Amino acid sequence: MPESRVPRRRRFLVCEPRHFAVQYAINPWMHPDKPVDVDLARGQWADLIRAYRDHGHTVDTVEPVVDLPDMVFAANSALVLQGRVFGSMFHAPERRPESIAYETWFRTAGYDVYRSDSVCEGEGDLVPAGRWVLAGTGFRTTREAHHEVQEFFGIPVISLQLVDPYFYHLDTALFVLDDGDEGNAGNIVYYPEAFSPGSRKVLARLYPDAVLATRQDAMAFGLNSVSDGRHVFIAPRAKELADQLARQGYVPVPVDLSEFHKAGGGIKCCTQEIRS
Ligand code: ARG
Repeated sequence: MPESRVPRRRRFLVCEPRHFAVQYAINPWMHPDKPVDVDLARGQWADLIRAYRDHGHTVDTVEPVVDLPDMVFAANSALVLQGRVFGSMFHAPERRPESIAYETWFRTAGYDVYRSDSVCEGEGDLVPAGRWVLAGTGFRTTREAHHEVQEFFGIPVISLQLVDPYFYHLDTALFVLDDGDEGNAGNIVYYPEAFSPGSRKVLARLYPDAVLATRQDAMAFGLNSVSDGRHVFIAPRAKELADQLARQGYVPVPVDLSEFHKAGGGIKCCTQEIRS
């Protein structure tokens, strides 16, 4: 275990939850009859942004659009690697217009935006992990999109099959602790039961030293975390996982986004990384 884990400064894109709500149900967490406390959500979100800035990360914001209540889940908008933007095509018709709003932001910020030909939900299912991109399928992003991502970036894409509807996006079942470098694959945390048997074997082969999370940690959105290589922004109810990470030299930074869990999202879902 390294004496001291070294953080890497990140650039994030986020969307204020001004119009956040649960108006439709496109995953098992969403119950439109259960109210969302928008003021509480705004406070929780502000805490997350403060925590990022306090730890040296840059945060940009995209203007929220009325009637797009899930737009707050910025991670779904794209995959941005090497300054190139692979834009999303949402599965649910309710979310499709979000692509236009995010595309406008990226273009105004000086990026060209490629739009996926098949259903693809950005960093929700596409998780860059140093030498390759881990990619989820089964509920949202299609295998065709995985292939398109590989061709677009020229980076190997490793397809993983998700099998539990509560963990419908890869970023609800897995996150990257360390990107690694040329000679080292880095490390991840995941909840094995969210994956098919074959995909579990793939993960075990690539990451023999991965941190494994329990169902309880996963249901607390503990896998929907953001790590900068040292600090891990994590849901406070994923206590067991946070303790495990602390024992491995990481520094858990608890941030409670419980209002967002009602829509099936957490810390990572609210965070799009812009990688230059
Ligand atoms: N309600 C949103 C949906 O079902 C939540 C998205 C969460 N985002 C994520 N990156 N997992 O699409």
